[in-house]
Amino acid sequence: MKPARYFEGKTVLITGAGSGIGKALSETIMTWSPAALVLGDIDTAAVQANADALGPPARATQVDVTSEDSVRRMIDGAVADLGRLDVIINNAGIAAGGELQDYAFEDWRRILDVNLWGVIYGTTLAYRHMLRQGYGHIVNVASLGGLIPEPMAAAYSASKHAVVGLTSSLREEAHARGIHVSVVCPGVIDTPIFDRATYVGNVDGAAVKEGTLGHGPMRPGEAAHVICNGIARNDGVILVNPSDRLFWGLYRASPRALSPLHRYLAKYFREHFETNANEGD
Ligand SMILES: NC(=O)c1ccc[n+]([C@@H]2O[C@H](COP(=O)([O-])OP(=O)(O)OC[C@H]3O[C@@H](n4cnc5c(N)ncnc54)[C@H](O)[C@@H]3O)[C@@H](O)[C@H]2O)c1
Repeated sequence: MKPARYFEGKTVLITGAGSGIGKALSETIMTWSPAALVLGDIDTAAVQANADALGPPARATQVDVTSEDSVRRMIDGAVADLGRLDVIINNAGIAAGGELQDYAFEDWRRILDVNLWGVIYGTTLAYRHMLRQGYGHIVNVASLGGLIPEPMAAAYSASKHAVVGLTSSLREEAHARGIHVSVVCPGVIDTPIFDRATYVGNVDGAAVKEGTLGHGPMRPGEAAHVICNGIARNDGVILVNPSDRLFWGLYRASPRALSPLHRYLAKYFREHFETNANEGD
């Protein structure tokens, strides 16, 4: 089957579909072939605007992925209205940056609530439906930082490593049940996530954004195209940016191989993205 026809006639639920990668995924799927899209986001206005722009059969729903009840309502509602759930893309996520000692535990909880618990709820509740149906595809959006270290973003990286572990384990567990399971691991994509991120300590968020996005990052539409192709092929791990294959390959061959680069990046971060407000403390 041609990748562009993979989503044809399917019921596809996407979280975090009001912005960035989730919005681009919905646009790509609708351009490829009409699918019954259920678009969830905590930002009701943004996701409604996206659904309106796409037109029927896309529909918007409000969801807070940190709430089991909210995710259950979204999934049960989609199945009740549309009769089945073919694909769920657990994409909603938030970012954070800064040195470990500066994170409040509340910062950790927020990151794990959205990035990990959001995926745990979405995966488990969708999987139960899919087991009853006997088919389905669960797609969880992690990050390259879920495959390799991401210094100065330890909480984010920890949440994404957990998503990779959950998803790759379930892929093997679900195989005999006929359920497909994939994890998406993008590098840097030019989305508003950098404006919304929590920066702890003396980190200058604007400098992080400028430094991270200053090297021609991939556009969300291009990323969505790569991701949709990976889903259609039922890839276990979907890498997005061309250079990511090299980084992941080097790290798998020898975790030490990337240490000089990561230590340089930590030093660069301290020198360029942190103000000296606490000097002398
Ligand atoms: N942009 C990147 O460079 C990049 C790289 C690797 C991984 N990712 C991952 O891709 C996913 C999408 O990120 P993006 O870059 O498109 O970010 P984004 O900020 O553009 O979009 C994220 C969306 O998630 C929604 N959201 C946040 N908290 C939510 C909650 N509690 N419940 C429901 N929705 C919620 C936001 O309202 C927003 O619409 C995230 O999981 C992110 O970690 C992004």
